[in-house]
Amino acid sequence: MSRDHVTHADIVRFADERVNLKRDDATELRAQANRLRERLEGYLGEHPDFELRKMLLSGSLAKGTALKTISDIDVGCYVSSASAPHKVSELIDWLAKRLEKAFPNLKPEQIKRKTYSVAVNFIATGNEVDIVPILYAGDPQWRGDLISQEDGSTLMTSVPMHLDFIRKRKAANDKHFAQMVRLVKFWAGLRKQENTDFRFKSFMIELILAHLADGGTSLNDYPEALSAFFTFLATDAFATTITFSDYYDPETCGKTTEPMRIWDPVNCENNVSRLYTLQNRDKIVEAALDAGDAIDAALYATTKSETVRYWQKVFGPSLNP
Ligand SMILES: Nc1ncnc2c1ncn2[C@@H]1O[C@H](COP(=O)(O)OP(=O)(O)OP(=O)(O)O)[C@@H](O)[C@H]1O
Ligand SMILES: [Mg+2]
Repeated sequence: MSRDHVTHADIVRFADERVNLKRDDATELRAQANRLRERLEGYLGEHPDFELRKMLLSGSLAKGTALKTISDIDVGCYVSSASAPHKVSELIDWLAKRLEKAFPNLKPEQIKRKTYSVAVNFIATGNEVDIVPILYAGDPQWRGDLISQEDGSTLMTSVPMHLDFIRKRKAANDKHFAQMVRLVKFWAGLRKQENTDFRFKSFMIELILAHLADGGTSLNDYPEALSAFFTFLATDAFATTITFSDYYDPETCGKTTEPMRIWDPVNCENNVSRLYTLQNRDKIVEAALDAGDAIDAALYATTKSETVRYWQKVFGPSLNP
């Protein structure tokens, strides 16, 4: 058995060196987003009726699941639903104009209108803060209509409740939940590089891992846990409808014939995998089969070089213990 050739500790080291965003870099990126948030709060102090209500770090930097290759900082911006246009193209331009007003020290060219968000560029660091509008009508748990970054549709959800949901899973599996998310995201990133048709959204990866961990799958030995994750995908092939009972009764979930069903933990009428086709699903299942086979082969390989070669099928050549 070649558990000794590539061990849990080797995967931990690989993750530290190649996969995870370094703690200091994460702190710096978060600070950049927080400075914007504080400046908006300052502006709101003087203009209490301003239509931008709140900015909130969302995405992987907020969840502690960011990869080294992180490209931008995700921020949700709550905008007053009563005053903002609801047509996305108009909403984006409207948001950009309000951001120009609230942040007068930014040059106009630093505020860029994208299809479904507004990007703020920091010249000094080259970082981009991606500001996603959320139409908000005053819900105390900050539920609102998030503009989907995939197709511009509105998704009724709550980013703070998502953060809380992930926080609970991290607490139940200290270090390991976030690390497994990052490892699987890294794996998915390699598959995307190989095949531009491959899609596997980070939030979906987090929800599948939450589903497995909630059901008792142990995450504390990474070779085992990765094998369990890929085996689940390969054998279940998205037959299971994934739901969570934190914020709703799963019995009340919508029924749909969509090929993949992963209900948003805060709204079980929002299928997070709604846009995934049969082809998208089959590509994930196929890639999971390959990864599961490679890990099994690695666990039974007899030499170190053979073991490493199998693991590299999963994590690429940068895994080199
Ligand atoms: N379809 C969706 N339904 C509800 N909320 C969503 C959906 N897509 C994204 N979100 C919200 O946006 C956040 C960011 O999601 P996403 O997983 O796409 O990016 P990320 O965690 O920043 O990962 P990456 O490292 O790939 O950027 C999620 O945590 C969730 O709060
Ligand atoms: Mg992100």
